[in-house]
Amino acid sequence: MTTKSRAEINETEREIWDGNTLERSKIKRLRRHAFYYSYKREDTILNKILDDTFKGKNVLELGSYQWINWIKDRVVPKKVTCINISQSELEKGIKVAKDLPFEIDFQIMDANELEFPDETFDVVYGGAILHHLDIEQTLSHVHRVLKPNGSILFLEPLNMNPLYKIYRKCNPRERTPDEHALVQSDFKIIKKRFTFEHHFFDFFSVIFGYLSLKLYGDKKHDNILNKIGHGIDVFVSKIPFLHVLFARVILYGRKK
Ligand SMILES: C[S@@+](CC[C@H](N)C(=O)[O-])C[C@H]1O[C@@H](n2cnc3c(N)ncnc32)[C@H](O)[C@@H]1O
Repeated sequence: MTTKSRAEINETEREIWDGNTLERSKIKRLRRHAFYYSYKREDTILNKILDDTFKGKNVLELGSYQWINWIKDRVVPKKVTCINISQSELEKGIKVAKDLPFEIDFQIMDANELEFPDETFDVVYGGAILHHLDIEQTLSHVHRVLKPNGSILFLEPLNMNPLYKIYRKCNPRERTPDEHALVQSDFKIIKKRFTFEHHFFDFFSVIFGYLSLKLYGDKKHDNILNKIGHGIDVFVSKIPFLHVLFARVILYGRKK
């Protein structure tokens, strides 16, 4: 359990992201290979949610950068506001924000302490961000800045499977020291303020993908091993008590 204050955690986060000091090449390689089919599934699910909830809306992205992948060439909101605690992370998004058919605004801001007035946004979303924050505090702000019946959408890593816990312990340099991939108690916090829908991803696809990477190298991602791993994941993700196995979740819902 960390004894750091939120200000100290924010400072560490800012330094790491501004300095780009995480070592993620090994995990990126495995992800690129093993998640070939789950990225396609993720795309299909996101397309549907984005189409239903983002079109013509006033949208806030926390821990900005994913707006490029999630929004650009996919859906036209009314306006997107992107916040991040790190200037260089924000810059990545600014660089590609040209000639857009919607208004976009970038601001340095702590997502734990949103500075926007009440009921400003129709949607608040983010990719791999809640687990860098004080979830309870952030979600109370998210709830406050959302209009009535506003939507949330997050894609987050999970830390419920003992194998992933061991992997994380053995590879601390892949992530910031205070981050905490989501566990069941975080779901309870979300459910207090929002309706809660979800899609779980990636357990068997990691095992089969690891074998496939050894066998084929970092190419031929659309192979039978990856396909089998993904197929089992899709089946198992429909069984609630097996959700603890998975590595990632898309979660979405509406303000209660
Ligand atoms: C794992 S990265 C995800 C980046 C991006 N959303 C994506 O999916 O590629 C986590 C991001 O959270 C940002 N971050 C960490 N603490 C934050 C805070 N308190 N407020 C806003 N952003 C924060 C980091 O700077 C970093 O950009």
